[in-house]
Amino acid sequence: MASSLTNSIFLGVLWSAILLSFATTLLAAVSSLESEAVALLESGWWSSYSNNISQRCNWHGISCNNAGSITEINPSANVIQVGDRFGKLNFSSFPNLVLLNLSDRKLGGNIPPQIGGLSALKYLNLSYCGLSGELPSSLGNLTQLEFLDISYNDNINGSIPPQLGNLKNLVSLNLSWNQFAGVIPFDLGQLTNLKSLLLRVNNIDGSIPSEIGYLTNLIDLDFSGNMLVGLIPFTLYQLTNLATLYLHSNQLEGSIPPNVENLKNLRVLSIYDNRFTGLIPLALCRLTKLEIVYLLENEINGSIPSEIGKLNNLKYLYFGANNLTGPIPSSIGNLSKLQAMSLGSNLLEGPVPKEIGNLEALRVLHLSQNKLSGSIPSSICNLSKLKALYLDSNLLEGPIPKEIGNLEALKVLYLSQNKLSGSIPVQLGNCKNLSTLDVSYNNLSGIVPLYIAKLTNNSLITYKGDGDCYFINDKAFDGNKDLSHYACPPQTKSGRTPYYMKIALPIVISSVFLILGCLLLSRFKAKKNQVGPLTTKNGDLCCSIWNYDGKIAYEDIIAATEDFDIRYCIGTGGYGSVYKAQLPCGKIVALKKLHRLEAEDPGFDKSFRNEVKILSEIRHRNIVKLHGYCLHRRCMFLIYEYMERGSLFWVLSNDDEAVELNWIKRVEIIKSVAHALSYLHHDCTPPIVHRDISSNNILLNSSLEAFVADFGTARMLHLDSSNLTVLAGTYGYIAPEVAYTMVVTEKCDVYSFGILALETLMGKHPGDLLSSPSSLQNTKLIDVLDKRLPPPTSQLVAQNIVQAATLALACLNPLPKSRPMMEEVSKKFVSSQKSLGIPLRIITLSQLVNHEMHIEGKKETCHV
Ligand SMILES: *[C@@H]1O[C@H](CO)[C@@H](O)[C@H](O)[C@H]1NC(C)=O
Ligand SMILES: *[C@@H]1O[C@H](CO)[C@@H](O)[C@H](O)[C@H]1NC(C)=O
Ligand SMILES: *[C@@H]1O[C@H](CO)[C@@H](O)[C@H](O)[C@H]1NC(C)=O
Ligand SMILES: *[C@@H]1O[C@H](CO)[C@@H](O)[C@H](O)[C@H]1NC(C)=O
Ligand SMILES: *[C@@H]1O[C@H](CO)[C@@H](O)[C@H](O)[C@H]1NC(C)=O
Ligand SMILES: *[C@@H]1O[C@H](CO)[C@@H](O)[C@H](O)[C@H]1NC(C)=O
Ligand SMILES: *[C@@H]1O[C@H](CO)[C@@H](O)[C@H](O)[C@H]1NC(C)=O
Ligand SMILES: *[C@@H]1O[C@H](CO)[C@@H](O)[C@H](O)[C@H]1NC(C)=O
Ligand SMILES: *[C@@H]1O[C@H](CO)[C@@H](O)[C@H](O)[C@H]1NC(C)=O
Ligand SMILES: *[C@@H]1O[C@H](CO)[C@@H](O)[C@H](O)[C@H]1NC(C)=O
Ligand SMILES: *[C@@H]1O[C@H](CO)[C@@H](O)[C@H](O)[C@H]1NC(C)=O
Repeated sequence: MASSLTNSIFLGVLWSAILLSFATTLLAAVSSLESEAVALLESGWWSSYSNNISQRCNWHGISCNNAGSITEINPSANVIQVGDRFGKLNFSSFPNLVLLNLSDRKLGGNIPPQIGGLSALKYLNLSYCGLSGELPSSLGNLTQLEFLDISYNDNINGSIPPQLGNLKNLVSLNLSWNQFAGVIPFDLGQLTNLKSLLLRVNNIDGSIPSEIGYLTNLIDLDFSGNMLVGLIPFTLYQLTNLATLYLHSNQLEGSIPPNVENLKNLRVLSIYDNRFTGLIPLALCRLTKLEIVYLLENEINGSIPSEIGKLNNLKYLYFGANNLTGPIPSSIGNLSKLQAMSLGSNLLEGPVPKEIGNLEALRVLHLSQNKLSGSIPSSICNLSKLKALYLDSNLLEGPIPKEIGNLEALKVLYLSQNKLSGSIPVQLGNCKNLSTLDVSYNNLSGIVPLYIAKLTNNSLITYKGDGDCYFINDKAFDGNKDLSHYACPPQTKSGRTPYYMKIALPIVISSVFLILGCLLLSRFKAKKNQVGPLTTKNGDLCCSIWNYDGKIAYEDIIAATEDFDIRYCIGTGGYGSVYKAQLPCGKIVALKKLHRLEAEDPGFDKSFRNEVKILSEIRHRNIVKLHGYCLHRRCMFLIYEYMERGSLFWVLSNDDEAVELNWIKRVEIIKSVAHALSYLHHDCTPPIVHRDISSNNILLNSSLEAFVADFGTARMLHLDSSNLTVLAGTYGYIAPEVAYTMVVTEKCDVYSFGILALETLMGKHPGDLLSSPSSLQNTKLIDVLDKRLPPPTSQLVAQNIVQAATLALACLNPLPKSRPMMEEVSKKFVSSQKSLGIPLRIITLSQLVNHEMHIEGKKETCHV
């Protein structure tokens, strides 16, 4: 009895203890949930989305565990605006938060130190957030962290906090594309689980710490684009799992030691643009998984080991711009997967080995600027995929092999500055894709057997009529004293006999060449200044692309355009040439290769990148999206959305296409441009002045919708010039006041818009019309409209045309102050239409200027 009493007392105590502890845990849990709720509310992140806090687990971007505690915050940018409220989140209130992903959000400001309170965090993604300032050392408190991505913030500076060395669970650390300075802290050597360590494009200096050797799980290592000096520590060669090693564009020195052999899994070795010396070690030739080897732009000497032939997975072999001597080993013919090889700008001698003819996959062969001798082996003509062949500036002699005609894929052929003799083989005419040819400064004789069907303007080659024949006034054939510089125009169906046939030259012309100037121009210039991508010394090569998978490799761009091959060139303009390229992800983009002006200014890259980032954030349905860019010290390109139909200028200047562009479409184009400019001027802070509105910069997609392109290019190229002094713009579109004030304002865009709008309606530039104000007085609108289209029949269409023309003329007011703002123009286009008071066919331009054509004969009072 007593014992049962004791028992029950004991049980009672036990039960209450259990209950109590249960209650406390419950309470704790409840209060922890409550403080999560409070923290969410107070953060204000969801304030415009919902404030029903009891529903928080269903809020956009939030995931909870079964107990209702928040585990993930991963909202998408277009639903939840975090902005400058980043620091308002009480980071200490989320004991179970595992994932915080704010990538691609404009957060701005610094990373709040309180972020160290997220004790359970495993994944933190703050890439592309526009953050600045230094990294808080409290990040070192996030000891559960496995993925830390702070890349592409551009302005994060200060040194890398050594406390990151506490993050022992880290698998991936990405600090690329910021402004980190100082050294790589040796503490990072404690991150033994790390598989990926990316510090690409920062200002990091000092040498690579030898502690790197502890990171034995490392697969991807990228320190490229920094200012690292000294030797590669020997410990790095202990990283036997390494698959990619990017150290290019630093100031590293020393030689590649034999123990590189340990890196058995290496696929990519990119160490170009450094100061490496010494020989290519035999050991390198045992890394048989290698696919990409970029050694170019160093001072590596000695000869190319013949064991190179063992690297049978090699796709890209770039040894250019070094001090290599000796012959090209014939074993190179074993590299059956090789797609591109550059050995240019070395001191190589001996013959071009005939075994190169075995490289069936080869697309680019670059052997320029060496001391190669002997003749061009005809085996090269077996390379059916070869698109670009550079053999210029060597000591090659003998004839150009006539089998060259087998190279059906060939587009670019450089043979200049050799000692080649004989005539240019007529078989070259079989290379139907050939677009760039340079055979200057050889000992060639005979006649240039080109059968030229289509000429482009804007090319190095100009043509002068001379009876039936044309002189080719082209540097491409200079310096061959026995070579005649002429070719004949295309043979017409009527079968007119070409001049050279008349004089019985035994030449059979079998094909048609397209000689487009743009690549030739850029290539030729690049080569002469030694700034081609393959031969540049001290290039700083960086690529960045948004919205796809984060990053695009230089090699992808090179592969996609086959080293900026002419076939991909779709146009040229004041700032450079435009290429069409298909990225590995399948997306088609336009690459705009810019002429680089501020080549030697080291600050330029950063300001360029900031500028380009701002432009990339601009989103408007009538503005061509900028996807990214690539930078090289002397060459840079922007990556844009691809527009199938090309420029408005192009479409208007082609009769068939111009007809396709009916009145409705033309008015739509004018409206779209007005909306886009209104957005740039009035919805962007600071306002963006395009500076170069012209029909060349309005691009059309497959449905002939218009997109404004190229704004900001001028500014990017003249970053320090703010609004003054640099006259950017296209002749014929520049507002008159710019000539004497040299100040470019929004009103200059308004003027250019006026020109563009008239041009769209007239089908040609309105220059003649505007040059005599008196003629404007009595001219009828109908008489200036594009004659290739039938006059509008629908009343609504006529109204639209009249409205567009009226606004265009208002924009051409010589007084900038009297021109409307783009915002007003844009609003006019969406406001309701007024029907015409008088028939379209009798409306004069002066009536438009005075707004006299609407019903009720009433003068419009609105001051557009
Ligand atoms: C919040 O949501 C719950 C469940 O849907 C609902 O019962 C409650 O009325 C809502 N509260 C407010 C303030 O809307
Ligand atoms: C943040 O949350 C913690 C834990 O819930 C709490 O102790 C602290 O007072 C909160 N801080 C602020 C500033 O609200
Ligand atoms: C983080 O957000 C970005 C951009 O919204 C997205 O691309 C990425 O997949 C997200 N990461 C995770 C792990 O959800
Ligand atoms: C977080 O880190 C800072 C600086 O490293 C340290 O002073 C602080 O005590 C840590 N906080 C917590 C909650 O561990
Ligand atoms: C880092 O950048 C901020 C502005 O973003 C600047 O105020 C600060 O001086 C910079 N710090 C260093 C060490 O460069
Ligand atoms: C390579 O250059 C080094 C100096 O950096 C020189 O000592 C060596 O003799 C050169 N080797 C060859 C094979 O030219
Ligand atoms: C190249 O291939 C041939 C035959 O396939 C072979 O005999 C030779 O050893 C190879 N050379 C090298 C350097 O691998
Ligand atoms: C490499 O060649 C350049 C120019 O030809 C020369 O200035 C440099 O001293 C050479 N370097 C070595 C290590 O031979
Ligand atoms: C080119 O290839 C053909 C067949 O593949 C072969 O018969 C010929 O010898 C090769 N020509 C040269 C010059 O190597
Ligand atoms: C940063 O690097 C990691 C690891 O390689 C990668 O998964 C991630 O996509 C990179 N971040 C960006 C924004 O490219
Ligand atoms: C971070 O988000 C970006 C997308 O904005 C994504 O490319 C990157 O892979 C993410 N980083 C990691 C480590 O998942």
